[in-house]
Amino acid sequence: MNIYRKRLIFLLATILFIVSCSVMLYFGYKTFYIEETNNNAADNYRYHFALIAEETENAYWRLIEDGAKKAAREKEIYLEYVAPKKADNDQLLVLFDRMIAAKVDGIIIQGIEGNRFVDLVHKAIERNIPVITIDTDVKSSERKAYVGTDNYYAGQLAAQTIIQHTQGEQRVGIVMGRLDAINQKERLAGFKEEIKNAPRIEIADIKESQITKIGAAQAAYEIYKQHPSITALVGMSALDGIGIVQGMQEVAPEKELYITSFDILPETVEYIKQGNIDATISQYPKQMGRTSIDTLITLQNKDLLKNEKFIDTSIITKGNLEKLSGDWK
Ligand code: BGC
Repeated sequence: MNIYRKRLIFLLATILFIVSCSVMLYFGYKTFYIEETNNNAADNYRYHFALIAEETENAYWRLIEDGAKKAAREKEIYLEYVAPKKADNDQLLVLFDRMIAAKVDGIIIQGIEGNRFVDLVHKAIERNIPVITIDTDVKSSERKAYVGTDNYYAGQLAAQTIIQHTQGEQRVGIVMGRLDAINQKERLAGFKEEIKNAPRIEIADIKESQITKIGAAQAAYEIYKQHPSITALVGMSALDGIGIVQGMQEVAPEKELYITSFDILPETVEYIKQGNIDATISQYPKQMGRTSIDTLITLQNKDLLKNEKFIDTSIITKGNLEKLSGDWK
């Protein structure tokens, strides 16, 4: 082999090596999103907390992060926001375990179903790391507190929007974020309980959006295709109402539907102003973030007597939009 050939092979091998390293790093990053939020100089904080969200770029979770970050900055807390790129329970559990191993001073996490979650909470508590569930509770775990909406009650409110604002027989299509999410199940249970008082209202179908707008648009379309006589649609998580409106505008723009959604993301509020969404059930994610930091600080020294910290929720329509005051965005 002459010297040029050898050099060429060496060059190609080096390029191949660099490319494979880059691919490895890129996909490693894509699988888990870990953002270090250095609120203060890393060596100048009182406590190190972790906030583990359902998925990174979800606008609702970004608001929780925002509220938590602000409170953390004020209270000299070093806060890490970590989450799977896309909602995924296995990845969430891996992050949970990793934060326990990192010996943080406290963990704020969305509750998810299953023994593995309960076991990890136990593991954290054994190691003196307080855990707070946020947005979704797991009452059977040893979590020290829950901060978030009373999801059963919120489901009842969603049903009330239809009971109060429609007349005659109603066939309702429901779009849920994830069928196995505890908060979604609680909202559905509250909804079902409430419509027991109104026999003119029945659920025609329930489909899942995977907490994406496109998933909600698709779910709404399928419900409509299979039950063209539906009269109302309910979106049970933050992006579902928006997706329902966009999906229905595409497939049946003339169809009259009563649309109820969840949350008050700016796009949802815009749709309420325009009359595309009739009602939404408000949640205050920024406040959840703030309260969770304050609660975790208290938990550094003592347990709480009252450990369910419910954050406000109510029905918002075009008629009472002014109820959304202050720092809610
Ligand atoms: C729920 C969250 C969910 C989000 C999805 C909210 O309504 O409370 O659990 O992650 O919607 O967009």
